[in-house]
Amino acid sequence: MGRVIAVANQKGGVGKTTTAINLSACLAEKGQKVLAIDMDPQGNMTSGLGIDKDEVEKNIYDLMIGQVGVEEVLQKEAIENLDIIPTSIDLSAAEIELIGVDDKESSETLLHQSKTIMSILLLIVHHR
Ligand SMILES: Nc1ncnc2c1ncn2[C@@H]1O[C@H](COP(=O)(O)OP(=O)(O)OP(=O)(O)O)[C@@H](O)[C@H]1O
Ligand SMILES: [Mg+2]
Repeated sequence: MGRVIAVANQKGGVGKTTTAINLSACLAEKGQKVLAIDMDPQGNMTSGLGIDKDEVEKNIYDLMIGQVGVEEVLQKEAIENLDIIPTSIDLSAAEIELIGVDDKESSETLLHQSKTIMSILLLIVHHR
């Protein structure tokens, strides 16, 4: 069974990104199959885990608005045992853009996408 760890805190500069980078890298180093999902538009975890943000074509924003599937945003084995779904500054616009979308449709898209992410996460863990 996969475990989901969210590193979240409303306060800025308290070490969320640093914790997420080091925790995911250490778990991968220990042989756990890890999927790191960067939900911060600043993208410091994405770049901190070695992904060049300028080279990323599709990211968590495209996934959340339902434009692409998980397979298209997944950066596989960016580090051994560690896959990443990168973020983008575009994510900061998602909340505003989604205001115009029908609530039911929007929440169904998000629900569907997060279920898909969870399935992939479980799949990765189970396939070790
Ligand atoms: N355990 C720690 N000990 C000392 N310094 C730390 C520790 N964790 C993080 N820092 C430092 O604290 C600063 C803020 O860390 P970080 O960027 O991870 O915070 P954050 O919560 O993600 O910030 P933001 O809200 O801006 O996204 C950085 O300079 C980082 O190097
Ligand atoms: Mg941060």
